[in-house]
Amino acid sequence: MRTPTSRRRGAPRSLAGPRPGAREGVGRRGFLKSLPVLGAGTALLGGCASQEGAVTGVDRVLSISLGQAESHPSYGSLVSFGERLAEATDGRYGARVYANNSLGDQQETVQLVSDGAIDMAVISGTQIENSSPRFLPMNVPGVFDDIDHQNRVMLDQSIVGELFASLEPQMRLTVLGGYSQGGRHLYTAQGPIESVEDMAGLKIRVQESEIFLRLISDIGGVPTPMAYSEVYTGLQAGVLDGAENNEISYVTQRHYEVAGHFTLTNHLIGFDFLLASTDLLEEMDEQDSEALREAWAETQSEFVEIWKQETEKATQDMLDRGVVITQPEPEVFAPIIEEAGLSILEHPDDLALYDAIRAASEEGDA
Ligand code: GCU
Repeated sequence: MRTPTSRRRGAPRSLAGPRPGAREGVGRRGFLKSLPVLGAGTALLGGCASQEGAVTGVDRVLSISLGQAESHPSYGSLVSFGERLAEATDGRYGARVYANNSLGDQQETVQLVSDGAIDMAVISGTQIENSSPRFLPMNVPGVFDDIDHQNRVMLDQSIVGELFASLEPQMRLTVLGGYSQGGRHLYTAQGPIESVEDMAGLKIRVQESEIFLRLISDIGGVPTPMAYSEVYTGLQAGVLDGAENNEISYVTQRHYEVAGHFTLTNHLIGFDFLLASTDLLEEMDEQDSEALREAWAETQSEFVEIWKQETEKATQDMLDRGVVITQPEPEVFAPIIEEAGLSILEHPDDLALYDAIRAASEEGDA
């Protein structure tokens, strides 16, 4: 389960667009004039050949794969990243965001970025963990206090620097950081879920990862691995009794239509990693690749506030739609969840990373 995928389903090379320098660069002023003013969540329709989710009118349009719908805030944020990148590189680079897994499911896109067939992809922590178990400590319950702590860690080179570069030699993948998934919770077609007994025999969709399998069985359910894009139909057909995710994914995937009971377990503060092709970064001028990293760091930090606001909106939306939101007593699930998280970390390197992340919480809180 943890070995890198060997599938090599290449998307056409043309997706990556022309190489830098293919035509005369657009001057900064000219470029800025051609960009419409947009906020997060807005599709960009501008430049010469209008394409949804794209900054056009640049020398090289980087392809970015995303599993979320356009209504998810990560889509608008990636579009803003493309704009930032275009501005910071004087129009030498921009980006086009491919939403809804249109370039492939997350695990497939890991291989596509590795092959250089696409430039970047957003993938869940569980998928990166399947490429390298070294990321496991970032994906366990209790490692992050909240999304501010998580963001601090993800920008701290002393903690993540070596880890984020660790896939470069073998897989030609560079981890640039990513987006918070916020707190993840349980939701079910029937409810409310107030005890471990209520979970007995319930088939709960999980991402393909050992920690999620363990977590759901420890709280009494039957973990059922399935791709994100199939969860709605799984719930609708009754193949699943429930799933787990954050409020925003629950709303943007319209899972409330087929699973109306939402139980606030907050079992994990998840993270979506942004992968980039190492070959791409090495081909870029140093100044441009530095600009790309800076544009990303700004986008990532800005997203933390966007996430908080969008989570509030999603919660209101859920209430308006009649979703039953339940907060179980803390002693019901929290100790089991904490135990499941700690029991999975055995390797000394995993424990060291876990401790470094926890220490960043104490420093921040001091
Ligand atoms: C979240 C996360 C995705 C992930 C999904 C899932 O929505 O942002 O990257 O794929 O959960 O549960 O599969």
